[in-house]
Amino acid sequence: MDYQVILIENNRVMLERLSTVIQRTKGFSLVARYQRAGDALGQGAVFKPHIILLDIDVGENRGLIHEFAEAFQNAAILCISNHWDSDGASEVVKAGAKGYLIKPFSSEELVDAVGTFGKSGMAFGSKSLAFFSPKGKSGKTTLIANLALSLAQKSGEPVGIIDADLQFGDMAVFFNLTPKSTIVEATRDIKFLSPITLNSYFVPVPEMENLRVLCGTRKPEYAELVNIQSFEEMVRMALSLYRYVLIDLPPGFNPISVAAAELATKTYMIAMMSGGFELVHMRRAIEIFKAWPDFKTRLGTILTRVSPCNSAERKRLESILEYPISAILPNEYILVSAAANKGRMAVDIQPNTELSININKLSDDIIGLQGMRW
Ligand SMILES: Nc1ncnc2c1ncn2[C@@H]1O[C@H](COP(=O)(O)OP(=O)(O)O)[C@@H](O)[C@H]1O
Ligand SMILES: [Mg+2]
Repeated sequence: MDYQVILIENNRVMLERLSTVIQRTKGFSLVARYQRAGDALGQGAVFKPHIILLDIDVGENRGLIHEFAEAFQNAAILCISNHWDSDGASEVVKAGAKGYLIKPFSSEELVDAVGTFGKSGMAFGSKSLAFFSPKGKSGKTTLIANLALSLAQKSGEPVGIIDADLQFGDMAVFFNLTPKSTIVEATRDIKFLSPITLNSYFVPVPEMENLRVLCGTRKPEYAELVNIQSFEEMVRMALSLYRYVLIDLPPGFNPISVAAAELATKTYMIAMMSGGFELVHMRRAIEIFKAWPDFKTRLGTILTRVSPCNSAERKRLESILEYPISAILPNEYILVSAAANKGRMAVDIQPNTELSININKLSDDIIGLQGMRW
C-alpha cells in the first residue's frame, strides 16, 4: 500500500508545486491538502495518514506539532521549511515531529526523508563525541574507528564519523573508503543542505548498514577551506541524522578542536603511553579544560598502549593524572594495524581480545550517557 500523505502548506503556489511532487512519487498518495493547519487537525483523521508534511514557516504551526502528534498517533510528522535551523529543529523534535525537510523538495528527497526519519525519527537525544589529543600519534583514529563500529553494533542506531583531522585525516584509509565528497564539500555546501542531503556526503561503511563516514580533506592544504562556523553548523545537522556523531580532531588546541570540544556532548582526551611525558602533557591539557564549570562530566580521558593493562595500572595512572580515566587500551599493535590494513576493525574480527572488550565497555558507557547538546 502507498504511504498516505497529508500536506499542509500555507503558500498556494508552493502547495501546488509540492502536491505535484508527492503525486508523482512512486509509493506515495496525497490524500488531503490544506493551507491551514487547523483545518487538517479538524478534518484529517478520516484519511488515516501515514505521513503529515507540516509547513512550519507559519509561526503558529510550530505550536500545533504536539496536537498533531496526539491526534495522529500512527503518522510521522515531517516539518517542511524554507531553511534549516538547528535550534528550531531541536524544538520541533521535542514537540513530537520525526523529521525535517527543506522545501521545495524532490521526489527523491521525499523518499529519502521517509526512509531516514520514518522508522526511528530524528535523533532526539543524539550525542556528539569529540576526540582530542594533546599531541599526535595517540591511537585516536584507531580508537574512533573501533568505537564507532562497536556503537553501531551494540545500539543498532545510526552512527556517523566526521574526520575533522583537517590536514592528515586518515579515516578513509582505515575503512578502505573512496569518498566522492569530503568535509570540504560538506562545509562548503552546508547553507544549501538539509539533513537528508547532508547524509549523502557521508560514505557508508561496507557491511555496516548503520555506520557512515564523512571523510577528511584530500590534501593538507585543503584544510584552509573548512570554515569553523560551517563546521559547527554541519555537526549540529549531523546530530539530526545520527544517534552518535564521533569527531576525529587534529592534535593540539586549534580552532577546529576547540570548536568541536565546545559543542560536543562529551570530549575524550587521548594519549598513547610511551615513556611518561604524555602524562605531563595530558595533565596540562586537563587544566585547560577545567575552565568548563561542568568539566567533570564533559571531559573523559583515554590512554592507549597501556602495559600492563589492568586495574592496578589504571589506578596508578589516575593518581599521576589526578583525574579519572574513562578507558585504557592495551598494546595491540599487530591486531589494530593488521585489521585496519584490510579495512576491517579489531572489535569486529577479534571481539574477545582485551582491546575489544575495553572498547565495548566504553561504548556501553557512551550509550548510557545522559543529555544532549544541539
Ligand atoms: N592500542 C594500540 N596498541 C598499539 N599500537 C597502537 C594502538 N592503537 C594505535 N596503535 C598504532 O599507533 C599508530 C598511531 O595510531 P592512530 O590511531 O593513527 O593515532 P592518531 O590518530 O592519534 O595519530 C598506528 O600505527 C597504530 O596502528
Ligand atoms: Mg589520526
